[in-house]
Amino acid sequence: MTIRREKLGDKAAVREVNERAFGQPVEADIVDQLRDSCSDLVSLVATRGDSIVGHILFSPVTVERTGGVVEGMGLAPMAVLPEYQRQGVGSALVEFGLKALRERSCPFVIVLGHPEYYPRFGFERASGYDIRCQWSGVPDEAFMIRILDRSAMAGVSGVAKYRDEFDQGM
Ligand SMILES: CC(C)(COP(=O)(O)OP(=O)(O)OC[C@H]1O[C@@H](n2cnc3c(N)ncnc32)[C@H](O)[C@@H]1OP(=O)(O)O)[C@@H](O)C(=O)NCCC(=O)NCCS
Repeated sequence: MTIRREKLGDKAAVREVNERAFGQPVEADIVDQLRDSCSDLVSLVATRGDSIVGHILFSPVTVERTGGVVEGMGLAPMAVLPEYQRQGVGSALVEFGLKALRERSCPFVIVLGHPEYYPRFGFERASGYDIRCQWSGVPDEAFMIRILDRSAMAGVSGVAKYRDEFDQGM
């Protein structure tokens, strides 16, 4: 398995991975919209041979606080083709993504997802840092943060805001 940046020409395969993993087009639509509207994405694919079997996207997230805005990234969506799940593909995508974001001095990554899955990568409840989700009704344990730069995040709290494209999925 190889992890690499999404390239021109991967669009259809990335769409298929998201549609099949989620069993609906919502996440694939968000990926397509963000690709057109946002220049600051980290989009990675996992390949086996010539095939794309997994995809992960990181897009900008802001936390507004007194005195300014802190920008980090949100992990969403992540998808692995059903027949390739539970073989380490998702984990490899998360690890590669976190490393790439740390290298570009991204201070934090948030995720809204399975609370049993993401803590293994160092994600913790965001509420422990008084960082809250913009959407109401999200279970506390499902909204998590991975701090990549502790000094940049010292004293940062508030509502974390994803790109507007995500509102349609909520
Ligand atoms: C979630 C997903 C990306 C994980 O990818 P993966 O390649 O199967 O993950 P890995 O092989 O690296 O890790 C497998 C681990 O994930 C856990 N896992 C996989 N799917 C899970 C789920 N739906 N809920 C909770 N845990 C899950 C398994 O328990 C397994 O843990 P174990 O190894 O301790 O048994 C993949 O299952 C998927 O595409 N699911 C459908 C779409 C989705 O829910 N995306 C995430 C939105 S937050």
